[in-house]
Amino acid sequence: MFTMEELEQYAQGCRECRLHKKRTNLVFGEGVTNTVLMFVGEAPGADEDRLGKPFVGKAGQLLTKALTALDFERSKNYYITNICKCRPENNRTPTEDEAEACLPFLRRQVLLIKPKIIVCLGATAAKYIIDRNSRISDIRGQWFERKGYYLIATFHPAALLRDESKKRLMWDDLKKVKAKYDEILKEL
Ligand code: URA
Repeated sequence: MFTMEELEQYAQGCRECRLHKKRTNLVFGEGVTNTVLMFVGEAPGADEDRLGKPFVGKAGQLLTKALTALDFERSKNYYITNICKCRPENNRTPTEDEAEACLPFLRRQVLLIKPKIIVCLGATAAKYIIDRNSRISDIRGQWFERKGYYLIATFHPAALLRDESKKRLMWDDLKKVKAKYDEILKEL
């Protein structure tokens, strides 16, 4: 079994799909690796590609602000990554073959971290983690229990930048995550 550092090093050389050709940086993931809480987004945007870190652009800053308000800190209690580790040009949705090529990295990250809660940020993460045919507006805010993981989806923070009315719903979802997190920590 790889350590997270070894897995990242291996990923840095990945050429499994066309996205490697245009990357500035592969964005592997960031945060605490012995944690119960993991967030998964879609794929890096321009800022993430430039800096090599997930969720550091405008959408990421919005998410980080909401998480901080719930006392979730990247350096303290969660890990965050994406379905695809390389940026699709013009921030298009990753294709199925790009997602499939990258999913083995996410599966290994999950095996290493062993989170109890996995939060899917947006439709792409929900599709590959919860249900291939799901609609984000139908399943968001609901818990799914699979193989000992609690799974939940909420809107992608970029969707909140386009539609302010989603902020309230995402906040409700994140409060559910916080309640579950507190409950799990009490049991540990
Ligand atoms: N959007 C994502 O889905 N992931 C990032 O890392 C940044 C923006």
